[in-house]
Amino acid sequence: MKTILITGGAGFIGSHVVRLFVNKYPQYRIVNLDKLTYAGNLTNLTDIENKPNYVFERGDITDGDQMQQLFDKYQFDGVVHLAAESHVDRSIANPMEFIMTNIVGTVNLLNAARAIWKDGFEGKRFYHISTDEVYGSLGDEGKFLETTPYDPRSPYSASKASSDHLVRAYFHTFHMPVVLSNCSNNYGPYQFPEKLVPLFIHNIRNNKPLPVYGKGENVRDWLYVEDHAIAIDLIFHKGREGETYNIGGNNEWQNIKLIQKLIEIVDLKLGRSAGESLKLITYVKDRAGHDLRYAIDATKIKEELGWEPTVKFTEGFESTVDWYLTNEEWLNNVTSGDYQKYYEQQYVKR
Ligand code: NAD
Ligand code: DAU
Repeated sequence: MKTILITGGAGFIGSHVVRLFVNKYPQYRIVNLDKLTYAGNLTNLTDIENKPNYVFERGDITDGDQMQQLFDKYQFDGVVHLAAESHVDRSIANPMEFIMTNIVGTVNLLNAARAIWKDGFEGKRFYHISTDEVYGSLGDEGKFLETTPYDPRSPYSASKASSDHLVRAYFHTFHMPVVLSNCSNNYGPYQFPEKLVPLFIHNIRNNKPLPVYGKGENVRDWLYVEDHAIAIDLIFHKGREGETYNIGGNNEWQNIKLIQKLIEIVDLKLGRSAGESLKLITYVKDRAGHDLRYAIDATKIKEELGWEPTVKFTEGFESTVDWYLTNEEWLNNVTSGDYQKYYEQQYVKR
């Protein structure tokens, strides 16, 4: 039996990856390590938490000694590393948490893995999950390739870029068996409502203003989260050692167009008249250093591993709206407590 560590498994993407691995690989023992920050929520995993091949460990990747003890205890065969501080706006308000978790935390995991794999790397793998934001901001043309030079522009993307460099450095210097991927914007169930899609669904339902940064002209490439999880499974098992794979939805939307689409769907589902909630759109001060456009060229993963998105945007987006409208209790739980303080600082006192 292989033992696989998934970090950040109580978060948005991590919970989909844990679910996929636990269900698909009964022969693996899946250990989910998560600090349970504001973004981590074990109720994301209630459907698999009693499976015999699943274990949860609460821990902090910034604590090197704790990580070494965990690796000594479980003798992991593989690591799928998703734990991170992930929200750009929070990185602007408080960069240090991002430096600690995203950079120091990643190196702690690399060191702990290297220590337990000292007798040889045969059958071992360290998979680092990253973002397209490391490549910087595109103009109207072009897409990010795996060979695009890094040009991170927010504390979040700079911290992810640093961790990517360190993972590659451990490959070249110590021959650590690593693989990496850089993905575009995900949407789907269990995303914390600080990110555009769940935040705006929540606000439309509650008739609250929809804070559009700048002119709403920025473009993102949207991918359904379960398609990302499928890509992660493929890369973990079949990706070539030392390689990086870009993952994207081939699905670019200008923010304002996406928001109008969202309003159309939510209004319909709530029985409101068409376009009723357009009045909630409120243009606010732009995000500092706001990257204009991201777009992924996912040719490499398609040609090498046969991966392509399976979920059509129209279907994925509608089912995502359904999920948030149906799971009001989940939204209410995660938006109580500290969330109110964050919301006030980010949107009311701007
Ligand atoms: P998330 O914020 O929803 O979840 C992050 C998880 O990491 C949470 O469960 C949190 O508790 C945990 N965590 C944070 N700090 C920790 C620490 N110090 N020790 C242990 N656990 C800690 O993030 P997400 O959106 O699911 O993103 C997951 C990964 O995917 C991140 O590495 C992110 O950079 C990357 N990514 C995200 C997207 C996206 O659109 N969301 C796109 C591309 C890449
Ligand atoms: O591209 C991948 C990245 O996508 C991931 O690495 C990040 O972890 C993830 O958070 C996401 O980053 P973005 O900054 O693109 O996502 P966010 O949902 O915060 O914002 C999407 C776009 O919407 C962006 O152009 C900013 C804008 N926006 C966002 C919020 C929260 C608004 O206009 N208003 C808002 O209130």
